[in-house]
Formats: sequence, C-alpha cells, structure tokens
Amino acid sequence: MKLLVTGAAGFIGSTYARLAAGEHDVTVLDKLTYAGRRENLEEVEHVFVHGSISDPGIVRKAMEGCDAVVNFAAESHVDRSIAGQDPFVETHVIGTGVLLEAARQLGVARYLQVSTDEVYGSIASGSFTESSPLDPSSPYSATKAAGDLLVSSHVHTHGIEAVICRGSNNYGPRQYPEKLIPLITLNALQGDRLPVYGDGRQVRNWLFVEDFARAIHLVLQEGEPGRVYNVGGPDECENIDVVRRVLALAGRDESLIEYVTDRPGHDRRYSLCSDRVRELGWQAQVHFEEGLTRTVQWYRDNEPWWAPIRSGEYREYYERQYGRVLGR
Ligand code: NAD
Ligand code: TYD
Repeated sequence: MKLLVTGAAGFIGSTYARLAAGEHDVTVLDKLTYAGRRENLEEVEHVFVHGSISDPGIVRKAMEGCDAVVNFAAESHVDRSIAGQDPFVETHVIGTGVLLEAARQLGVARYLQVSTDEVYGSIASGSFTESSPLDPSSPYSATKAAGDLLVSSHVHTHGIEAVICRGSNNYGPRQYPEKLIPLITLNALQGDRLPVYGDGRQVRNWLFVEDFARAIHLVLQEGEPGRVYNVGGPDECENIDVVRRVLALAGRDESLIEYVTDRPGHDRRYSLCSDRVRELGWQAQVHFEEGLTRTVQWYRDNEPWWAPIRSGEYREYYERQYGRVLGR
C-alpha cells in the first residue's frame, strides 16, 4: 500500500511511521509545529511533504496515488487548548474536513482518524465503550470530537471507508515534554521541581506508544468501515503514583513534588473498554512498569533529542505555564 501519514513528525505518528515503513510506502505530511521534528523520522524511509492538512492544494498533491490515509496531525496538548483554541479548531475541524474531502474526491480506499478517549469526557467508575456518548470538556477534546463527527458524517453521507481509533494516554520515547510523563522525567533527571495539578489523584489509562501504533495498523487493515475502535492501555494509575514511580526511576526523592493550582475543567478519570479491538487480535504487550522504565531510560540516553527543546520555544511555554506557580 501507499500510505499518507499526516502528523508523522510528532510523537505517535513517528512511532507509527517507523512500524509501517517496513511494509508500505510512506508519505508524510506535516506542518512542523513546535511539536513536529524531522529528527523523529530518522531511519524511517519516507517522502516528506511540509504543509498543513487544512491546505486543500497541498493535501491533494500529497494524497494523489495513495491507497490509505492515517491522520495523526493535531494540536495535542490540553493546557495549550485552554490558553488558546484557534489552532485546535483549524487543525482538528477544518483540517480533518479538508482531508476527508480530498480522500473522497481521489477515491482513497481507506481513511483512519486517530482520536482520543478524551472525547467521552470523564468517568467516575467503569469504562467507556464505543457507544458511550461524546461529552468532551476541553477545547482540545471538543475539537477532536468534532473531527470524529465529521468522519462519521462522511461515512454515512459519502460512503467513504473510514475508521476511528480512540487511544488512551500514550507515553514512550520522543514525546514532547509538555505532557506529564516526559515533563516530570526531565525535571526529575535535572533535579527540578515536579508540578502536580490539584490533589494529584486524577486517573489516566496509560498506553505504551508502540502498542497504540500496532493497534492503529491492525485497525487500518482489518477494521470494519464506519466503526470506532477504543484502544485503552493495560494499566490505570493516579498521577501522584506516576510521579512517585518516575522519581524512583530517576533516583530522586519526593521533596521535588510541588502541588500547584489545578487545570480548569480537569477531567478526573479516563478509562476505555477495548474489547472490540481485542476481537481483531490486538493486545497490549507493554505494561506500565516496563514501559515507564524504558521511557525514563530513553530520556536518560537521548539528551541530544531533548536538550534543544528545553532551551527553545518550550522554555517560554514552561515559564508561562509554570513560572508563577513554581515561584520562578
Ligand atoms: P504531537 O503533538 O506529538 O504531534 C502532532 C504532529 O502533528 C506534529 O508533528 C505537528 O507538527 C503535526 N501537525 C499539527 N498541526 C498540523 C497541521 N495542521 N497539518 C499537518 N501537521 C500538523 O501529538 P501526538 O501525541 O503524537 O498525537 C498524535 C495524534 O494522536 C493526535 O491526533 C492526538 O489527538 C492523538 N492522541 C494522542 C494521545 C496522547 O496521549 N498523546 C492519546 C490518544 C490520541
Ligand atoms: P497530560 O500529559 O497533559 O495528558 P491529558 O491531560 O491529555 O490526560 O496530563 C496527564 C495528567 O497529568 C492530567 O491529569 C494532568 C496531569 N498533569 C499534572 O499534574 N502536571 C502537569 O504538569 C501536567 C502537564 C499534567
């Protein structure tokens, strides 16, 4: 197959491209926002197109001759969506619409939308299934939900063969350090304080990035057109427990923990039921303990990857987001 993989200069997309490039021809379309880096695609055979999924001309050119599209392109951080929603609307709503329209016009056989458990909102107990109602609470998740609804509308109205994969919180190598696990890992390795929102008892359903990439590849090939597939990690964990585990792996003590003002509208708990993707033959292979150990080790070993990030745009973001609460 010839695959168009959008957003593949980012964390999950580059992991997926690494997996898919062994079997298929991969064209990457990426805008290279602060989160997108060509280095993430080192050693991955691909054709690179620089541009936005919201640009119909570039999308058409990149998609021509492709058998399938896998859309990872996104603004992926909840806190940034609270600070300003515009790029989220542009990429998740307008961009998804442009991709779908081009896929329809070019007769692309298969379209996979990469989505998130956050479209369901928070759940106090039990787990969300694919038929749970959408109830997003942040501009990030609301715009992701809008993208999902556009995909479903194109299935119903135009008959395109699209599937949606909703993943739970991913972690692993090459994740931009605005997200909890890489942020606290780098802070712990450097002896900086670790900001914990609110009481730290929020629960996330952790999924190792390579397990998500394998699920996406399976659903692309075997998923039933028009269906949604939840892909939840094998372990749930309170944030404070994640922080304590990372501190232990980094060899630091808990005095680095700093409770800070909670995120507005913070979802308390995410949990997914993944029976449907399991029926296709998927199973998570990496449990949290092993995945976290591998992740912390990767950041230890790859300072040349993160050092330029920590000194660039990220520094300004970090000061804006945490400077005041951490008393800098
Ligand atoms: P990321 O922020 O690491 O990467 C996003 C990539 O998309 C970057 O390379 C960026 O340059 C690119 N991009 C942004 N806007 C674009 C545009 N308009 N046109 C083309 N490229 C654009 O994100 P990630 O964590 O790898 O997430 C990938 C996808 O997976 C997203 O759709 C996200 O919603 C979804 N997802 C993420 C998680 C998670 O825990 N990170 C969990 C479930 C689902
Ligand atoms: P995050 O990695 O931003 O993912 P999401 O909000 O999409 O789940 O955050 C994971 C959890 O960690 C979430 O409950 C918010 C919390 N968190 C902190 O406590 N401190 C932080 O500095 C960050 C970035 C997140």
